[in-house]
Amino acid sequence: MIKGTDSVSMAGKTVLVTGGTGGIGKATAIGLARLGARVGITGRDPTRAEAAADDIRALSGNAAVDAYAADMSSQVEVRRLAQDVLEAFPKLDVLVNNVGGFWTTRHVTADGLEHTFAVNHLAPFLLTDLLLDRLRASVPARIVTLSSGAQAMGRIDFDDLQGERSYSGQRAYNQSKLANVMFTYELARRLEGTGVTANVLHPGVVRTAFGAEDPARWHRLFLPLVRPFLKSPDRGAATSIYLASAVEVDGVSGRYFANRKPKKSSPDSYDTAAQTRLWQASAELVGLAPAHTMPSAENHGS
Ligand SMILES: NC(=O)c1ccc[n+]([C@@H]2O[C@H](COP(=O)([O-])OP(=O)(O)OC[C@H]3O[C@@H](n4cnc5c(N)ncnc54)[C@H](OP(=O)(O)O)[C@@H]3O)[C@@H](O)[C@H]2O)c1
Repeated sequence: MIKGTDSVSMAGKTVLVTGGTGGIGKATAIGLARLGARVGITGRDPTRAEAAADDIRALSGNAAVDAYAADMSSQVEVRRLAQDVLEAFPKLDVLVNNVGGFWTTRHVTADGLEHTFAVNHLAPFLLTDLLLDRLRASVPARIVTLSSGAQAMGRIDFDDLQGERSYSGQRAYNQSKLANVMFTYELARRLEGTGVTANVLHPGVVRTAFGAEDPARWHRLFLPLVRPFLKSPDRGAATSIYLASAVEVDGVSGRYFANRKPKKSSPDSYDTAAQTRLWQASAELVGLAPAHTMPSAENHGS
């Protein structure tokens, strides 16, 4: 049992965990299902997603687990996923934006965008926007987004967000994880007073399939050596579960956590002008007209 969640019941709560077919997301889904929540998980492949949902039901003893298939590198699929979730869940208490990955080489999505930025940042940005009215109608509600300690090395390259001029997998990953933090800070500001909180976290270095699709050289060489010393997925899910469920963080918003404790994120992440610029660039890239984007700080609560 995770400290801070021992007396928590999530009975009657509905949670969506993106990327619940393996790794940290699956462990998060198991933990929240054990606390009694109805849990939706997502993955790219329907068969794998259904098999994961079966495991989560068996391991948690909770039958209320639903699987959704969507490739979140595609905005059409993110929109379809949101529609499916809105049809299935009359209320949504917690959204855990967990999907993310590392790709060594530059890939381009069906929307013509750089894959790391699209999956790690633009997908949670768009999904959150599409589910926000349902979260607002379910208050108190929480949005939990997975970043990484790599955010500390990140830089938002506004002149080359898509890595068209030069690409490095590590730079793209660092940028996307800093974007997760800046998105959360701006989102929390826009949601102030609404009853919906937004927090972001570093799960630790965790033994998962992370980076395995397109591994870096260091990944192939060193990972087998250090793998036994990494956190288990259960321990890696602890901060996600804590932020999704603990009473201690009721009303806490706009914070970066690691090991269930608030921590300082990179100095760049607190630049509010850059947060707003990133927000606007992201809204354009996902085709959200300014009038349709999430509430601004001026009109929250309206
Ligand atoms: N592991 C670590 O040490 C570590 C450290 C810091 C931060 N993180 C962050 O923690 C989060 C989870 O990482 P993890 O280690 O659990 O990764 P993982 O084991 O690779 O799991 C990734 C999950 O995301 C899903 N996924 C991947 N690409 C997708 C796409 N295009 N569309 C939809 N789903 C997709 C996968 O499902 P399918 O393959 O079934 O589609 C899987 O469920 C990520 O945001 C990562 O950046 C991890």
